[in-house]
Amino acid sequence: MKKTLLALMISVSITGLAQKKGEKATVIKPKKEFIDELLSKMTLEEKLGQLNLPTSDDFTTGTAGSTGTAKKIEQGKVGGLFNIKSVKKIREMQRLAVEKSRLHIPLIFGMDVIHGYETVFPIPLGLSTSWDMPMIEKSARIAAQEATADGICWTFSPMVDISRDPRWGRASEGSGEDPFLGSRIAEAMIKGYQGSDLSANNTMMACVKHFALYGAAEAGRDYNTTDMSLNRMYNEYFPPYKAGADAGAGSFMVSFNDINGIPATGNKWLLTDVLRKQWGFKGFVVTDYTGIPEMIEHGMGDLQTVSALSMNAGVEMDMVGEGFLGTLKKSLDEGKVTQKRIDDAVRLILEAKYNLGLFKDPYLYCDENRAKTEIFTASNRKSAREIAAASMVLLKNDNQLLPLKKSGTIGLIGPLADAMENMNGTWSVAGDITKAVSLRKGLEDAVGKNAKILYAKGSNLDYNETFEANATMFGKTLHRDSRSPEVILKEALDVAKQSDVILAAIGESAELSGESTSRTNIKIPQVQKDLLKALIATGKPVVVVLFTGRPLDLTDEDASAPAILNTWFAGTEAGNAIADVLFGAVNPSGKLTMTFPRSIGQVPIFYSHKNTGRPLANSEGKFEKFRSNYIDERNEPLYAFGYGLSYTKFEYSNLKVSSDKLQQNGSITVTVDLANTGNYDGYEVAQLYTRDLVGSISRPVRELKGFQKVWLKKGEKKTLTFTLTANDLKFYNNDLQFVAEPGDFEVYVGGDSNAKLQTKFELVN
Ligand code: BGC
Repeated sequence: MKKTLLALMISVSITGLAQKKGEKATVIKPKKEFIDELLSKMTLEEKLGQLNLPTSDDFTTGTAGSTGTAKKIEQGKVGGLFNIKSVKKIREMQRLAVEKSRLHIPLIFGMDVIHGYETVFPIPLGLSTSWDMPMIEKSARIAAQEATADGICWTFSPMVDISRDPRWGRASEGSGEDPFLGSRIAEAMIKGYQGSDLSANNTMMACVKHFALYGAAEAGRDYNTTDMSLNRMYNEYFPPYKAGADAGAGSFMVSFNDINGIPATGNKWLLTDVLRKQWGFKGFVVTDYTGIPEMIEHGMGDLQTVSALSMNAGVEMDMVGEGFLGTLKKSLDEGKVTQKRIDDAVRLILEAKYNLGLFKDPYLYCDENRAKTEIFTASNRKSAREIAAASMVLLKNDNQLLPLKKSGTIGLIGPLADAMENMNGTWSVAGDITKAVSLRKGLEDAVGKNAKILYAKGSNLDYNETFEANATMFGKTLHRDSRSPEVILKEALDVAKQSDVILAAIGESAELSGESTSRTNIKIPQVQKDLLKALIATGKPVVVVLFTGRPLDLTDEDASAPAILNTWFAGTEAGNAIADVLFGAVNPSGKLTMTFPRSIGQVPIFYSHKNTGRPLANSEGKFEKFRSNYIDERNEPLYAFGYGLSYTKFEYSNLKVSSDKLQQNGSITVTVDLANTGNYDGYEVAQLYTRDLVGSISRPVRELKGFQKVWLKKGEKKTLTFTLTANDLKFYNNDLQFVAEPGDFEVYVGGDSNAKLQTKFELVN
């Protein structure tokens, strides 16, 4: 470590010790004193440098504005770098900062560690369908363990954007449509990443993104405008962000979209009034990729204007845009930003570095030995396999077609059947696609010599070659077959004829969801539908093994295929985990966290909608004139929020409340008996919903207020207990007061959001 940095660290009080064994203890001053002293030494240029976050050029998503990064690091013009992989490269960049820059301030290294590092877990939407908070936390813990072993100390995760629109490809990166569940998942992930001590060498700082409302993009088109009432924002879209702030996330990332007329990146109400003042957020705020210069396109002014707008709104770090670095001096000279605001921003960045332990040891996360021993370990892969199996959702299983026996001949057919490169799913930048287990490999390993697996591709992803190229970027190829569709299909039908059962591995490719993959058609591509039709026409039993990053319109498949297992993109261990579920080593327990519509025309569709003044009187889906419905489609979705089958059968009975009155400061318990009446042991996700019958503003028809994932052996019966307090019933009224209004509430408990068992209570003052 350089002398000058050490000089800054001369102790007055003993607050810390060196992090690596064998190194001399480094003691540094308490945070405030340390940062005050450092700030007093910094030039304006060095301060602006701390606010600058260029990309490493290892992975880029937009038009990068930063060049000559190494030189800038030496000049103190860089605060951190992101998406740079390996201890070797990171150590070298850190060396430039610590040894070559005047004040030797260490860099912070970020990365999109979204669903695992090299050990890749299911895409976040898949993780959410496990409804298993300890498991989700564990996936984040393992991700942090691996990423920090490889030099990373900051992840751009969790993404907590509520989404009710499957056209939006980034639904794959979030936890679905529900604010209550989304909040619990945000907390679990932050805990997994940050642990209880951010300065430990195996924890990393979380970044809650994308603040705010990114998942409500108009028409489901990525980056598009949002325009929303405060009532809906506070009650339906804000809760997971707030939960992230309350859970102590170290940073927040702003979203690309415009919110009621002002882009989030320049939205002072959002970033200062809501995030800082109302929620008390203490960390720093970073833009999304080129978020500042993009405000020029939004029509907010030139680079200087939008950079000042962003700084004054409450942004501390500029990702790739270099608006802060290039224009804030001028704005300061012209009185458009204040020195105090810049100093406050720099302080937050330095505090984050202090909290991460980087001033004590800039190489805290650069341990070659850890990099060799703690990444992609057998034990991490074992956890990934369990988590992947827990994420799968059984959508249909007529006549108990699943689980399959490991015998006879299994025809494995479809463009996703032998698709190793696609198993990790979208946004898995650190994952090695060549190390993922394909379905074919997983099945072959699972059956060994007990059964025969016959494989045929059956079809390409799509008839259209350009579409397929756009949906298989970043090396995630499906190895497009250049033969004619008829020839490819014929080969598959030959395999089908020899098979006892057919697994149709169809759906989306990994990069058909994720950033910038909005779709106007959420059906399985036509060539695959044609394949499935032909397979079903053989008369053999067909199981659809579905791959997708978003809810799809599966109306045709639901009508024609006897069994559908939705596997999302399950990560490194996908093939093994799917085999575990198909052959019954794992009984599926995943439940949907985003509604699957019957048709794209129903979008946006979600379970916790408001009632209209003209709800339907019939529940059979019959059209009723002058009622709120469609002339050509039912109102209800194909598969509801919370839905998912098991190989066993669960029955709910005896729903009771401990009292029919709940006091504002009291609590009541809700109990229900849950019995496993089928033939397999298994997990059930029991869900509790309430309905607030009368409010000062109209209230949703149902709201999730509790859930429990319980294991029941076959034949076993348990009594489940949920506790409700007035706090659980609070919502933001039209004056934005968070209140529980007295009155009658209905309670529903069951296995999905259509739960039938019902009771009620009254909230009294
Ligand atoms: C995405 C963010 C991501 C960032 C950095 C952007 O394009 O919207 O989610 O964290 O790139 O890679």
